[in-house]
Amino acid sequence: MRKIMFLGAAIAALGFIMPAAAQQPIIIKFSHVVAPNTPKGLASQKFAELAAKYTDGKVKVEVYPNSQLYKDKEELEALQLGAVQMLAPSLSKFGPIGVKEFEVFDLPYILPDLASLRKVTDGPLGKKLFSLLEKKGITGLAYWDNGFKEMSANKKLIAPEDYKGLKFRIQSSKVLEAQFRSLGAIPQVMAFSEVYQALQTGVVDGQENTPSNMYTQKMHEVQKYTTLTNHGYIGYAVIANKKFWDGLPADVRGQLEKAMKEATEYGNGQSAKENTEALEEMRKSGKTELITLTKEQDDAMRKAMLPVYKDVGSRVGKDLINEFLKEEGRPTID
Ligand code: LMR
Repeated sequence: MRKIMFLGAAIAALGFIMPAAAQQPIIIKFSHVVAPNTPKGLASQKFAELAAKYTDGKVKVEVYPNSQLYKDKEELEALQLGAVQMLAPSLSKFGPIGVKEFEVFDLPYILPDLASLRKVTDGPLGKKLFSLLEKKGITGLAYWDNGFKEMSANKKLIAPEDYKGLKFRIQSSKVLEAQFRSLGAIPQVMAFSEVYQALQTGVVDGQENTPSNMYTQKMHEVQKYTTLTNHGYIGYAVIANKKFWDGLPADVRGQLEKAMKEATEYGNGQSAKENTEALEEMRKSGKTELITLTKEQDDAMRKAMLPVYKDVGSRVGKDLINEFLKEEGRPTID
């Protein structure tokens, strides 16, 4: 009798425990390197909220900002190993894992505005670039914007000659390397989390970044001059570990895709505003002088950087560059 009672109690306890265990949420660790109050920080937070809502709590997205978990290069390795499930690295950071085609986005002045960019990312080329990630065990989910880059240093950067001999921090992209070499500057690859200190201590003289990234890392406090060149773009590929993503129950994956679509619309809808506000804060701080180039000065910068298209044509692929330009409705190169 006692045995039966014990068994009954055990079964009841199991019945109590089992559904609770079945309700354990699927955890998605989403690591990134920027501050929470940036375009990427806000979009990833929005995705976490929507993922919880649409999966009815079945998925919990944990966002780790500010390189808390991993720095640039490490985070891609961590994703491939499955230590984290999602990331949104800048498009300039895929060269080191052998997908150099994304560096087409780094070509100087290739994107006149965000509308041209959208034509590329939403079109066949955006899909084709994502397909290149599959063989690396990565699934591409969306393209998120940050915005256009400015140049900064402790010296006024107006003419191409002003860059000569200065050391600039770059992201890990050979196109960005070629861009600074075209100006006679010395590019140095460095993780995003190390840039502020490198600028402060003079390890590098300058850098290029969006106002939101500069402001939230306080780079403007250690750079006397910021030139509004808008010569390049920083955007992100939101990516997942392919094995993890493919292994999700189909209904959950669908709900996450819906959350991603809405988070993307939200993030991309306000990234320009976030950068404008950050630039305004930089101006108000009085710590960096904002320099606007005249048309002639701007033309001189464009001319100086034009050879980059030829220099890196074989790396990125001339056909790919032309496909990119065509989708934007711009003249191709030969
Ligand atoms: C950088 O390294 O400068 C940026 O890619 C950081 C980021 O993720 O926006």
